[in-house]
Order: sequence, then structure tokens, then C-alpha cells
Amino acid sequence: MSDLVTTRRLDRVLVVTIDNPPVNALAPGVAEGIAAAVHAAQTDESVEGIVVVGSGSTFVAGADIKEFGRIVAGERPMLALNPLFNEIESSAKPVVMALHGNVLGGGLELAMAGHYRIADRRTKLGQPEVKLGLIPGAGGTQRLPRLVGLETALEMCVFGESINAPRALELGLVDFVVETDLVQAACAFLLTAPPPRRTRDHTSNLLNPDQAQSLAGRVKPEVGRRLRLQTAPLAAVDAICSAASLPFEDGLAHEAKLFAECLYGEQSSALIHTFFGERTVSRIADLPKDAKPLEIRLAGVVGAGTMGAGIAQCYAAAGIPVLLKDADPTALERGMTGIRSALAGQAAKGRITPQEAEQRLALITPIADWSGFERCDLIIEAVFEDLDLKRRVFAQLDEIARPGAVLASNTSTLDIDALARCTRRPERVVGHHFFSPAPVMKLLEVVRGAATDDEVLATTMALAKRLKKTAVVSRNAFGFIGNRMFGPYRAQAVSIAEEGAAPWDVDQALYDWGMAMGPLAVGDLFGLDVAWRMKQMALKLGIAHLDADTFEDRLFGQGRLGQKSGAGWYLYGSDRKLTQDPDVEAQLRLYAAEMAIPQRRFSPERIVERCLDALINEGGRLLAEGVAQREVDVDMVYVLGYGFPAWRGGPMYCAARTGKRKIYERMLRRYERYGPFWKPSEWLRA
Ligand code: 3HC
Ligand code: NAI
Repeated sequence: MSDLVTTRRLDRVLVVTIDNPPVNALAPGVAEGIAAAVHAAQTDESVEGIVVVGSGSTFVAGADIKEFGRIVAGERPMLALNPLFNEIESSAKPVVMALHGNVLGGGLELAMAGHYRIADRRTKLGQPEVKLGLIPGAGGTQRLPRLVGLETALEMCVFGESINAPRALELGLVDFVVETDLVQAACAFLLTAPPPRRTRDHTSNLLNPDQAQSLAGRVKPEVGRRLRLQTAPLAAVDAICSAASLPFEDGLAHEAKLFAECLYGEQSSALIHTFFGERTVSRIADLPKDAKPLEIRLAGVVGAGTMGAGIAQCYAAAGIPVLLKDADPTALERGMTGIRSALAGQAAKGRITPQEAEQRLALITPIADWSGFERCDLIIEAVFEDLDLKRRVFAQLDEIARPGAVLASNTSTLDIDALARCTRRPERVVGHHFFSPAPVMKLLEVVRGAATDDEVLATTMALAKRLKKTAVVSRNAFGFIGNRMFGPYRAQAVSIAEEGAAPWDVDQALYDWGMAMGPLAVGDLFGLDVAWRMKQMALKLGIAHLDADTFEDRLFGQGRLGQKSGAGWYLYGSDRKLTQDPDVEAQLRLYAAEMAIPQRRFSPERIVERCLDALINEGGRLLAEGVAQREVDVDMVYVLGYGFPAWRGGPMYCAARTGKRKIYERMLRRYERYGPFWKPSEWLRA
């Protein structure tokens, strides 16, 4: 037996244990080891049944994702789990899968190849392959619908969300849920001599082929809407619905074909990059391993506006008590009202229970003065984006906070070191840049000031995990990673509109490419006043060679601030629904004539290329300056905070795919023709 799989005897039961930490992924050797043990048990007369169990905290979290890149690169053969799972399923002696922790992807497929499934109450089960741009590739699309029906199988495989053990029991995916010792319960069950029961033979849950076809026809448009432009979810629909029309083995072959198409497709590589990227960003090269995080038992939030109220909810969701303060009593009341209605909304949608909503609300204490802040382990400031105001707030926090407390700012652009200098403890100051809406957005951009000490950084990274955020560290620089890159990206969108494209065509091109929103509509969302102020700061600092006078500045000058004023690049009704404004286009053409900007036509491809080149080049500058640690940090900021499609991997990943040389050369041509905006970054030049 390999090291990855061991066997032992408990009375007349053979217990097969998978031991491949940390998540018992099905690396080469694991499924082989289980199948070999099952095979050997067939001829051992003293064995009456087999239990398969995972060691450590989990059963099996899937195939080994690290293998996929190697397969695509031709370094490894294609996965061949089906013959092994079929061997397990064909066992003449009953096989019980004893499940705990995560039973995901290939892990659930392995479990379904057993004859019975017994699960610990806290087990999570799912087919999350679509999140990696894949479909289940070891029989999941054929066995799951046999156990739970086509509709539920579609729900699980197309959206990739896990279910808990009680739900799996209701659905018939597991046979027993226990709270006692799992292996003992499995052995006890086996000694009742249950007959082997192959999942493949269980066809009563399958629809007839016509019904399956019409289900696929109904589901596909919804999938196309919810998971726009993604290929794997639609492939999953095909594979699952084929279970109703194809014999089992043909169904497996059809699944294998679709799985391979997904695996060799670009979306899967990009999504695998983001899977590992989300985990890589938590590693900070020069943070000593022994830097100990401080425990956060009480937090304080200053400013109860959009962000402060959202951040307070993030803390409460993690079970951390939080004090929420605002200088304006009306704003504080408004903040609390917003929190109450957000929690009620989540409870109404079933995302949390009414009790959880109440518990979270009880953890948030609105405070008019500073009482209690002296006990906080961390205080985060989310007042208006005004350097002088924030300086005053930091000086005050320095007076009030206990020694050792972490002082954080949610600023989206300002100089963290300047804030740190207003205190006598610059080493305790750090940027915690949340994104709006804070309870929803996964990104936490962490700004490491020049003086920020290791303990504060370690505390921040541990806290982010507790808040279920992905923290990406940026050095202190104007706009940090995200907003600094957003400037040149949006500047290109504005230029293209000035050069002849309709604003909505610019937005549509980027939306159709996969961005969550077009860049001009995003400007309207966060406010053209905010965009203007940010640009003035960038101009003052000589960053990115932005144009001092653009058409967008004119819109701002007319009081068109975007959604908040009912008009910006678009017009907005009371429901904030956008409509195109022909007047904006007419004004744009007048502006172009006045500024003698030559007019031309733009294809969607050209629009996307120019905007992305600007984004990539600024990312390159941040890498060259050491503001961002690695390409993957830039990618994760964009995927998690700026609506960049995860299935495209992030801007720097896209650059690598297109070829840095190619981008460098076209950038150089533009630089020679149009000037310093296009100066290729050192990162691209290298
Ligand atoms: N393969 C390889 N490594 C994996 C892995 C997998 N399936 N799942 C997790 N890991 C690694 C992580 O990269 C991480 O490594 P690191 O410590 O070096 O960064 C380590 O295991 C721990 O993972 P997390 O930090 O994510 O730990 P959590 O406790 O937060 O989460 C988890 C655990 C829920 C299992 C989460 O890791 C997860 O969602 N994993 C992926 C599950 C998945 O997508 N499975 C399907 C794989 S594809 C497949 O099975 C195809 C099949 O149909 C043929
Ligand atoms: P907001 O205008 O909604 O709220 C700011 C709140 O701070 C107001 O309620 C105000 O009364 C309060 N305040 C002002 N001075 C105060 C003081 N001295 N003491 C206590 N409270 C005070 O602003 P918003 O949007 O929440 O922004 C806050 C910070 O978050 C800014 O730095 C902003 O740049 C940043 N940010 C904003 C994002 C957004 O999308 N709105 C996203 C990420 C960061």
C-alpha cells in the first residue's frame, strides 16, 4: 500500500484511510491505492465489507488541482479516475464511504462510487469544478443525477455551491448522518450485511430524454445570464442532461470529452490561476513567520457612512463586537438604520437566520462619544476622504486608543504614512481598504506604511481571514494598487470616447469582454466628482501622465456627478436605472471639434486592447516600483475588487497570455506617436 492510503482491520471490516494532507486531494496514487485495497479485499474471506475514510480534518476535497497545469502542459497523462472508481463500485463486498469535512469534486465522485454514504453532521458536499472552469470529470455528472435527480444535480454542478449533510440526507445523497464516531458507525452498519448497491444502476430519479432536453433548454438561458460568458457551466448542463439519454458508460465518455475541452480551454487555466492566487497573496515574503497576530476582541469604527456601516457589519458577521461612532448623530442613526435593514434583507433572503441577524445587530453598538474606544484592539477610520480631516482623526485616536492597539484607515487614495505621522505610534498604523459594499466584496487591500510593524501586518492578515476577506498587500503609494491602475484605464475609456466612439459603445465593448461594468458607467457609480478629485491628486504627483482637461471634467463642471445627481455619462431615473443621453454624445463631438481631436471608428477589440494596455502598463509600473509584491497580487486586486472576470485571470495574467513582448511593442509605437502616457513600464520592458 502507498503512503497515501493505508489499511487496517476492525473486526471483519477493512478500513481504508486516505492520508494526503492537507485536504486529501486525489493526487496520483490515492485513487489507485483505494481501488487496490478494494480489489484485494475481494479474495480475503475474512473481510465482509470496506469502509473508506479520510484522515485529518476532511474526507477528500477533490482531484489535485496542481496536476491540471501539468496535464495541460503535457507533463502528465490525462486523469483516469473512472476505471478506478468503477472498480470500487463493482466490489462484490459492500463499500461504505465515511464522510467528514469537505467532500468536494473528485471527493464526492469517489463517495458516490461507494455503495453507501455515512456523513458526520458538519460535512460539506459539492461539485465545485465550475469554479475552476471545469465540470466533474470522474462520473459526477452521471452518478449525481442518479442519486438526487437532474434538477438538483444541475443546481449543484452548474453553480458549484456546497450543501450540508442534513440537506444531503434529505436529497438521498447520503444514507445516514451521525454525530458519533464515524468509522465505528460505518462498521456497525456493515455488520448488518447490507448488499452492495451500485449508483449506476439507480435510474429511477432520471427524467426521460425529452424531459431532460426541455430542462436543458430552460436552464441554459438562466445559466448564460448568471454566469455570463463562462463555458464550463453550460458544458455541465450538457453532461448532466446526457445522463437521461445515454447508457452509463457512454455518459462517462461524454463527460470525459466535455471535461477535456474545459481543461484545455483558456478559462480553466485562468480560474486555476485565481484559485492559487487567492491563496498566494496571503504570503508576504519579508513577514517573519514568528510575527504573532494580536487577538481582536473589540473593534471600533469611526464614521458610520456607506463604508463605516458596511465594515461594522463585516466585524459583526465574524462575531467580533464593534463600536460604531459618527460625528453627526443623524449620520449615525442613518448608518444603524441601514445596518438593520441590510441584516433583515439577508434574513429574508435566507442567507442568514433571523437569530443570526439579531446576534449580529447586538454586536454593533452605536456610540455618540468616544466611550469604550480605549478598550478597542483595533480602530478603523472611515470618515470623508479628506487628508486634513483624517489627520485630525488619527491624532485623536492616538490620544484615545490603548497602547498596542492597531489604527487602520479605510482611505482609498490618501498617504498612510502622512496619517501615521500624526500619531506617536506610526508602527501601529495600517491601511485597511475595504470595497463597497463591504459585506459583499471579498477584497481587502492592505496598505503597509513605511513604519507599519510586523505584528500589525500579521494581525491584519489573520483578521482578514476571520472576516472572510482576501487581503492583498500594497506598499503606500497614491491609489495603492487598485485605484492607481484604475486612473489610466478609465482615462483610455474617456479618450476613446473623445476620439469618436459613443460612450455606451466603449462600455459595451468592455462589458462584452467580461468586465462587470463598463468604465464610464463605473465613473457614474462612484461619482465623477470623486474621479475628478482623484485625478487632481494624481496630476499633482505627476502620476500616469493623465490629461488635465478631458470631456469627463466638463461633465463634472456641469454638475453631472453620475448616479448621485441623476446624470453623468448616462441619465438615471429614480430607480438608478441608466439610459443613454444623446446630448452627451452631441456634446462629445462638439468638444472633439473644439479640441481638434481627430475622429475615427473603433472596433470593440480595439477599445478593449487600449483600455487593458493602459491597465496592464500601470500594473507594470507598480511592480517595478515594488508597490505590488507580485503579478498575482495585482490580478487578485482586480478580480476581487474591480469586477475583472475571474475566468480571464486578471490583467497581468492576460498580459502573460497575450505576450508581454507584443504588448511592449505596441506600447512603444504608441509612446513614440502619442507621448508619455504610453511609456512602457520597466516591467514590460524586462
Ligand atoms: N488540490 C490541491 N490542493 C488543494 C486542493 C485541491 N483540490 N484543495 C485545497 N488545496 C490546498 C490549497 O491550495 C491550500 O494550499 P496551501 O496551504 O499551500 O496554500 C491548502 O490545500 C488548504 O486549502 P485552503 O487554504 O483553501 O483551506 P480552507 O480550509 O480555507 O479550504 C477547501 C479548504 C474548502 C477544501 C478549499 O481549499 C477548496 O475549496 N478547495 C478546492 C476544492 C475543489 O475545487 N475541488 C474540486 C477539484 S477539481 C476536481 O475534483 C475534478 C474532478 O471532478 C475530476
Ligand atoms: P460617507 O460620506 O458615506 O461617510 C463618511 C462618514 O464619516 C459620515 O457619516 C460623516 O458624518 C462621518 N464623519 C466625518 N467626520 C467625522 C469625524 N471627525 N468623526 C466621526 N465621523 C465623521 O463616506 P464613505 O463613502 O463611507 O467613505 C468613507 C471612507 O471610505 C473614505 O475615506 C473613502 O475614500 C473610503 N472608501 C469609500 C468607498 C466607497 O465606495 N464609498 C470604497 C472604499 C473606500
